[in-house]
Amino acid sequence: MRVLGIETSCDETAVALVETNPWSTDILAQVISSQIELHRPYGGVVPEMATREHLRNLPLLVPQVMKEVNLSLDAIDAVAATEGPGLASSLLIGHSYARALAIALSKPMIGVNHLEGHLISPFLANRRAVEFPFVGLIASGGHTLLVHALGWDRYLKLGSTVDDAAGEAFDKVAKLIGLPYPGGPEIEKMALKGNPEAFGLPRSFPERDNLNFSFSGLKTAVRFFYEKSPQMQTEPEWAYDLCASFQKAVVDVLVRKAVAAVAQSRVERLAVSGGVLCNKMLREELEFTCYEAGIDLVLADAASCTDNAGMIAGVAAEKLAAGVEPRCGDDINPNLSLFASSEADGDAARGLSAAIKLKNRQAKKGLQEEDVVAPGEVEVW
Ligand code: KG4
Ligand code: ZN
Repeated sequence: MRVLGIETSCDETAVALVETNPWSTDILAQVISSQIELHRPYGGVVPEMATREHLRNLPLLVPQVMKEVNLSLDAIDAVAATEGPGLASSLLIGHSYARALAIALSKPMIGVNHLEGHLISPFLANRRAVEFPFVGLIASGGHTLLVHALGWDRYLKLGSTVDDAAGEAFDKVAKLIGLPYPGGPEIEKMALKGNPEAFGLPRSFPERDNLNFSFSGLKTAVRFFYEKSPQMQTEPEWAYDLCASFQKAVVDVLVRKAVAAVAQSRVERLAVSGGVLCNKMLREELEFTCYEAGIDLVLADAASCTDNAGMIAGVAAEKLAAGVEPRCGDDINPNLSLFASSEADGDAARGLSAAIKLKNRQAKKGLQEEDVVAPGEVEVW
């Protein structure tokens, strides 16, 4: 089965063609047009500019992908596009394009949750079948999320950030220091030359059973040290140690929480994705810690850490192959949740006992276990 995927949730226009085989799903071709240079002068993504770029790019990228594999559009079995979450105007372009294409080809149109794409992208990158259950860590510019993935459409939120996403913290600290957007790679370059132990920066929620993240205290501490040092403000090399210490603090927290989430969920596998995973120190610390703990670590590669269409097409193709009914793809939803109940979502974010809440709600409504996200599994709080 071949699925054409389109991703336009933010500032990357991506198109990919995937094909399922009995063992995994292969990305046959993929093109990604990044808008980083376009948005760089503004220090962040300008939604209207992103939208216009998607509009310009898609009619070029779709034929390019088909040409790369030397196939006509008739050879595809379904069209998939990101339904959400993301920027509404950007989502609309990719979704409308995909829908029009599906109608013209008389093929099914499938809407895909962007976060579900990130969750499975490590498996796609390693040409492995998606093996449930696992814990997924998504660390990007928009999200920092720990998920217990029990099966298709059965996801439990274990923890998320209560303020900035990890990538956002990198971007904000970079901006403070006068480095360009996106800040992650810039901080990483500076950090390579610094001493990660030079500054004692705070780590949020160090308790093992709290799987939420917070980066605002860390950001404030970085600002405090930066503003106290006139040298750092004039000569970048004075900020090497601060960048290294900041990077180490973020990596420590991400690794510690991810490993705790695996232990608490009693799974064997950790799948990690999102733009922050491009960070070499994060990759190495995850590899080392998971090796020591006997965890099967599945890392997205550099191409699939960041937003891409392979993961969107991949979710649709794997679901179709597994006989799971995919989303119908009628409309976009900029706030689309990965979780069955937005209420349970909020409970988990506040670190309350989702297990008790879900069980109570089930009892009240007389629901069957299958109707809600596996409640027995939420005993981690
Ligand atoms: O997944 P992504 O491409 O876009 C979102 O969906 O947000 O992630 C982009 C984020 C940015 O915040 C960027 O600064 C961060 O990933 N990032 C990094 C690195 N490369 C990208 N953060 C730390 N180290 C890196 N090498
Ligand atoms: Zn993303």
